[in-house]
Amino acid sequence: MRDFISVHQLSEMEIFQLLRKAEYYRKQEVQFNEKLFVANLFFEPSTRTKMSFTVAEQKLGLHVLDFHTETSSVQKGESLYDTVKTFEAIGANLVVIRHESDHWFEELKGKLSIPIINAGSGKEEHPTQCMLDLLTIYQEFGRFEGLNIVIAGDIKHSRVARSNAYALQRLGANVYVSSAPGLEDETLHIPNLPMDEAVEVCDVLMLLRIQHERHTNQAETANYLTNYGLTKERESRMKNEAILLHPAPVNRGVEIDSDLVECARSRIFKQMNNGVYMRMAIISELLQNRGVNHEDTFNKRETVGAF
Ligand code: NCD
Repeated sequence: MRDFISVHQLSEMEIFQLLRKAEYYRKQEVQFNEKLFVANLFFEPSTRTKMSFTVAEQKLGLHVLDFHTETSSVQKGESLYDTVKTFEAIGANLVVIRHESDHWFEELKGKLSIPIINAGSGKEEHPTQCMLDLLTIYQEFGRFEGLNIVIAGDIKHSRVARSNAYALQRLGANVYVSSAPGLEDETLHIPNLPMDEAVEVCDVLMLLRIQHERHTNQAETANYLTNYGLTKERESRMKNEAILLHPAPVNRGVEIDSDLVECARSRIFKQMNNGVYMRMAIISELLQNRGVNHEDTFNKRETVGAF
């Protein structure tokens, strides 16, 4: 693994190793010995992902270079490619990129000597979010095989849906979607359940935000909660042990009743916490694969199954 671009590039073994490594970092403080620099290049808004990368990087002892598109030469028309090459030239050892283009990494492929992490590519992929979601599910159930997982909401415009659908199917989960008319994505070929049925069969309900910024026409949200969202009545019909995920930001009162955001089965804030340790694991894996030393004693077992 030289870059972290897509869940499609990960073997089952690599997925489990990252889950284990993230748990290791939760318990074990580890710092890189060398002076290393990282740039978080976010061309789209972000709170959680950008800040959890920053915390992960600082926990590992990396120096985080400040970058904001509004005050950068992006305003003078500088391209993504030239921006990234600039960071490489001035000494960044790693770049984390979020960009509205679905395939922004294509223009960088083979052109950089430092690793790249995909922190969100348009509607296509969000592989670090997927990995932290996998960690949250595995902590709960200790397996993926046979779990009923419903991804619900704006499937058509969600990179979180695409990364998770692929990875979870690959790991043996029964994946379903539940989406309002017009928000489905036929290219995924995943059975679509109405929300009333979805809540009763799922072990994991992964709710998604309506991605207004990616819609060509403003989406209608007036009756969304009642027709397609998680109301209190629907939540009361979920299995006792079923959990609720959401990558956030949450549209309270649209895909979920506001009171359910912190209900007993919600793992929404747990996901954010897991994001720090998962991103530490991914960063350290990439840097170690490029020969950068650190003192961790994490033992790479070649086994499927985590902790
Ligand atoms: C998601 C994203 O940016 O794709 N958020 C996140 O990274 N936690 C989901 C969203 O914006 O709805």
